[in-house]
Amino acid sequence: MTPVISLEGVTKRFWPGPVEAVSQVSLQVEEGEIVTLLGPSGCGKTTTLRLIAGFESPDEGTIRIGGQAVSGSGAWVAPERRGVGMVFQDYALFPHLTVGENVMFGLDGFPRREKKERTREVLKSLGLAQLVKRYPHELSGGQQQRVALARALAPKPVVVLMDEPFSNLDAHLRESVRDEVVATIRRAGVTCIFVSHDQRDALAISDRVAVMNQGRIEQVGTPWQIYKHPDSVFVATFVGRTNLLQGFVKNDHGCVRTECGSFCRVENSGLPEGTPVMVSVRPDAFEASEEGVLEGRVVSTKYTGAHVEAVVEILGEDGRGHQLVVHLPPTRTYAPGELLTFRIVSEFASVVRNACQTLGFSPVPPDAPEREEAAAGA
Ligand SMILES: Nc1ncnc2c1ncn2[C@@H]1O[C@H](COP(=O)(O)OP(=O)(O)OP(=O)(O)O)[C@@H](O)[C@H]1O
Ligand SMILES: [Mg+2]
Repeated sequence: MTPVISLEGVTKRFWPGPVEAVSQVSLQVEEGEIVTLLGPSGCGKTTTLRLIAGFESPDEGTIRIGGQAVSGSGAWVAPERRGVGMVFQDYALFPHLTVGENVMFGLDGFPRREKKERTREVLKSLGLAQLVKRYPHELSGGQQQRVALARALAPKPVVVLMDEPFSNLDAHLRESVRDEVVATIRRAGVTCIFVSHDQRDALAISDRVAVMNQGRIEQVGTPWQIYKHPDSVFVATFVGRTNLLQGFVKNDHGCVRTECGSFCRVENSGLPEGTPVMVSVRPDAFEASEEGVLEGRVVSTKYTGAHVEAVVEILGEDGRGHQLVVHLPPTRTYAPGELLTFRIVSEFASVVRNACQTLGFSPVPPDAPEREEAAAGA
C-alpha cells in the first residue's frame, strides 16, 4: 500500500551557517497511522512538519503525500493544495474571531452552506458546540486546543500535523485533552504526525515513534520497541530512564556478561562470543524478590506515584559498587542503606546496537571468576 506521507532523504539547511536543521530524513506514514516525532529542543521536529505542510522547501530529497510528489524531484505543490491540516504549538487562533469564525476560516473556498454545516459538525464532535460564539480569550487552554484541532479537521484533510499540541496544558488537563484529541483523530481516520519532546505523550498516543536527534531520525518503531530495545545511547537515555552497562556477549541463551553480572535472553545479543557491547537495562528490569540473586543497597528514593524510583548500589563482579536506577513497588517506603535482592526481568534488557562499534571500553576480562547465576534467567 502506498504510504500517505513519504519522506525520502529530506535535508533542510538554514543560512547563515549553514544549520542543517533536517538531515537525510526518511519516513513513511501509513493511512490512519499516528506517528510522533520525538526529540529535544532544536532537533528539527518543527522544520520537518513545516516541510511536509509546504511552509518550507527541502534542499535535498522528496516528499510525497498520497503517492504524489509535493516537494523535491522538481515538484512543488502549494501548502493549501496538499490536503494537510496543521495545528501550531501556540494554537494560532485569531483573537478577534469567535470560535465559529475561527473554524470557518479554515474552510475558505467552500460554499457558504457547506462551511456552516461542517463547522457545526466538527464543533459538535469535539464538544465545543456551546462555545461557538465565544472569543479565544474566553476559553480555557484545553478548549483553545480543541478549537485549533477543529479548525484543522474541518476541511477534512488527508493528513493532520500537530506541533507540541499539549505543551501549554497543565498536567491534569493534559492527559484528558490528549486522549480526547487522539480519539477524535482515530474516529476521523486521519493520518497524523504529532511533534513532542515529551516521551510519555509519545509512548502513550503513537502507533510508531520516530526519535530525532540533531536533524536525524535515530530510530523508528512502536512505543514498545523504542522503550524496550533502543538502538542508540541517545534513544536509550532520551526515552525514559535507563542503566547503561558495559559487557561482552557470552552467547549461551543470548547472555551478556556485564560488570554487574550476567543477563540472559537479552534482545539483540546474537553477536559473536566475546563482542564488547553496551546493554540498556531499564529500571523496570529489576524486580525486588527474596529469591533474587542480585544484591544492592538503597542509596536514595523518589516517590513518583506509579512507583518508587530508587538509586541502588549493586556490588559488581569487578568489586566496585555500581549505582543503578531501579523501579520499586510503591506499596511501602525504602530506607537508605536497606539491603534488597533482585530478580532480573530480562525483557527490559537490550544490547544497544549502534553503541557497540564505538565503545572502546574494557569489559570484565573473560577469565575473571564469575558470580554464580548473577542474574536470574541464566
Ligand atoms: N527560519 C530559520 N532560520 C534559521 N535557523 C532555523 C530556522 N528555523 C529553525 N532553525 C534552526 O533549525 C534547527 C531546528 O529547529 P526546529 O524548530 O525544527 O527544532 P525543534 O525540534 O522544533 O525544536 P523545539 O522543540 O525547540 O521546538 C534549530 O537549530 C533552529 O535554530
Ligand atoms: Mg519546534
